[in-house]
Amino acid sequence: MPFRIIRPQSFRACSRVPIFAPRAFSIHSPRCIDSRAPSQSAPASFRKNGGDKRSLSDRMSLKGKTTVITGGARGIGLSLVEAVAEAGGNVAVLDVLEKPQADLSTLGVEAHYYRTDVTNMDVLEKTFRQIQSDFGRIDNCVTAAGIVADKSFFDHSWDDCEKLLKVNVLGTFFCAQLAAKAMRDQDSGGSLVLIASIASHLALPLQRLPMYGATKGAVRIMMKQLAVELAPLNIRVNTVSPGFIRTDMTELCATQQPELYSVFSSAPPIGRIGETTDITGAVHYLLSDASSYTTGADIPITGGLIAGRIAN
Ligand SMILES: NC(=O)c1ccc[n+]([C@@H]2O[C@H](COP(=O)([O-])OP(=O)(O)OC[C@H]3O[C@@H](n4cnc5c(N)ncnc54)[C@H](O)[C@@H]3O)[C@@H](O)[C@H]2O)c1
Repeated sequence: MPFRIIRPQSFRACSRVPIFAPRAFSIHSPRCIDSRAPSQSAPASFRKNGGDKRSLSDRMSLKGKTTVITGGARGIGLSLVEAVAEAGGNVAVLDVLEKPQADLSTLGVEAHYYRTDVTNMDVLEKTFRQIQSDFGRIDNCVTAAGIVADKSFFDHSWDDCEKLLKVNVLGTFFCAQLAAKAMRDQDSGGSLVLIASIASHLALPLQRLPMYGATKGAVRIMMKQLAVELAPLNIRVNTVSPGFIRTDMTELCATQQPELYSVFSSAPPIGRIGETTDITGAVHYLLSDASSYTTGADIPITGGLIAGRIAN
């Protein structure tokens, strides 16, 4: 006996809604499927292939470029310093710590350390002037300086929030501004990579990050605003959103709440905590000419946490 589909009245009403696709755009239209010959009416500017003819490895090279990296004394920032040097780029490393956790003189490129608090505008301006005088130019900037506060919404004080906002939002904003001013004055274009966080996309198991997440959300929307405003200057702006990455920052959160150690490896679908080197490939790409058409984008590097969880 053939099946009879019995639709409820409400569904049948819906099914009478007219379909608005005009005939010209239907998949049966010869205009859509005709692949016999390129249209003679395409303007010459469309037919010209203006792509970069260099090899991919040449486009990925950072040789001759100067990259400023904030928060570069340790953790994700330090791994990025090493990755930029490996790609042949010179690095200006900014951090509040007395010295970086690695010897910059062994990197094989020009690398200088500037002890700088990103929340102090006078110091920042002096540092960027010094970088321009030491390196002669600024091509790229990565803002990795950041702090976290993992505690209940009800326990956040005004002071806690102000500190988070100053380092994570104002520090990021003004480092990006000073770097972009140098790029504008050189008329060279450039790339800004702002380090956001998975915490700007979703709440994380066991952690309470209401203001930290808000600061990283601010960084992501700042990126979109800047990507559009700076595109005419050929300055590209993107964010990377790390998930759980093994650094002093995650260790600090886990010492306060040891259950987090197992969450870090069990919550991401990939089944492990991330390492700082998991971040470097994407940032290297974003800093290089290989990403010359990429701006206004966020790259989540989360072991799949961005898509969902397989365990608590
Ligand atoms: N580790 C993670 O799981 C994770 C996840 C998402 C996002 N992030 C972000 O990645 C970035 C790097 O974090 P990390 O995990 O390497 O942490 P980290 O604490 O090891 O490194 C942060 C660095 O920023 C520096 N810093 C802090 N305040 C500063 C200031 N006022 N001026 C200059 N430097 C300052 C610190 O001294 C430190 O070297 C941060 O922005 C963080 O929010 C980290």
